[in-house]
Amino acid sequence: MPTARPSLNPGPAPRHSRIVGVGGYRPRRVVPNSEIIGPIDSSDQWIQERSGIKSRRFASEDETIIAMSSSAAKGALAMAGITADQLGCVIVSTVTFMYNTPAAAPILANELGATKAAAFDISAACAGYCHGIALASDMVKSGTSDYVLVVGVERLSDFTDPCDRGTAFIFGDGAGAAIVGPSEVAGIGPTVWGSEGARWDAIVQREPWNEVVAAGRQKPAIVMQGQAVFRWAVWSMAPVAQQAIDAAGITINDLDAFIPHQANMRIIDSMIKTLKLPEGIPVARDIAETANTSAASIPLATERMLREGQAPHGGLALQIGFGAGLVYAAQVIVLP
Ligand code: UT7
Repeated sequence: MPTARPSLNPGPAPRHSRIVGVGGYRPRRVVPNSEIIGPIDSSDQWIQERSGIKSRRFASEDETIIAMSSSAAKGALAMAGITADQLGCVIVSTVTFMYNTPAAAPILANELGATKAAAFDISAACAGYCHGIALASDMVKSGTSDYVLVVGVERLSDFTDPCDRGTAFIFGDGAGAAIVGPSEVAGIGPTVWGSEGARWDAIVQREPWNEVVAAGRQKPAIVMQGQAVFRWAVWSMAPVAQQAIDAAGITINDLDAFIPHQANMRIIDSMIKTLKLPEGIPVARDIAETANTSAASIPLATERMLREGQAPHGGLALQIGFGAGLVYAAQVIVLP
């Protein structure tokens, strides 16, 4: 480097980060398995046995990506005890916003009154929330932002083929949100994340938009190689969860909650076994009434566990997201 060039301001001294509030929005309409089974020649019993799902919520017209996100964000802001104008950044994780551009985040920021916030979307499917927490944590730690809103939101019912046996019963709609802010002590452990793009077609929009238009169809559906994804989740994700525990410098016995992506109750049970999670540590099982809401599933489950007293405020929770890409991310967090 030329010596005459002035050195750049390195920014504020690094500090710690933590989640200071969470919120959730569940659409009004409850859809039991009995409403799904007709077109896929299935049964309530099969769906419950294979996935643990009893019902899901489907968004109505007015429960848009922005409206659901806004409601979840307001809950998170209230718990954090801050106002929207204190947000330095808004990150929305979604794969079901109907606009390719602009992103949902600036519209949400405007709706909330977060007039000073940077705002952008990320696309990391069911791992999107954990990706968002990783970004937000680094932003707060480095001083890029004081408070960051992370929203995971999906209207998967818009992208589900009701006649596809592999997916019609599995997806639901909703929004979950978290505020990440500065902390005296470390409140978000290191993120363990990665991708396996060679398996991009394991969970995929059936055809790209240009082919949908060329074929005169209205919109594409998300399809999944169910068994392959199931095996990947069961075999590959428990080691990632263990790495997140190790990276946090704790042991599994220190956890106060396990909040995995709500993909399938059998995947959750199998991860518990592989991780040897001690009995008595509460596990998120929101999937039974909420189904798989992709990016929204972990914050929705977190909000519920705290609200219902299943997990303690200030306790340590392991969260792990995994899905289309294939992509994954996990970290240990201190619950708000
Ligand atoms: O969120 C992103 C990550 N996603 C996931 O992690 C999802 C991972 N995959 C899964 O959760 C499971 O693969 C499913 C729940 C989607 C499916 O369960 P499965 O145990 O893998 O079912 P399968 O596809 O192996 O099918 C088992 C049997 C078959 O019958 P035979 O050949 O054994 O006679 C299917 O024909 O069940 C039959 N079947 C159904 N029966 C009733 C398949 N789909 C249905 C259905 N209703 N919807």
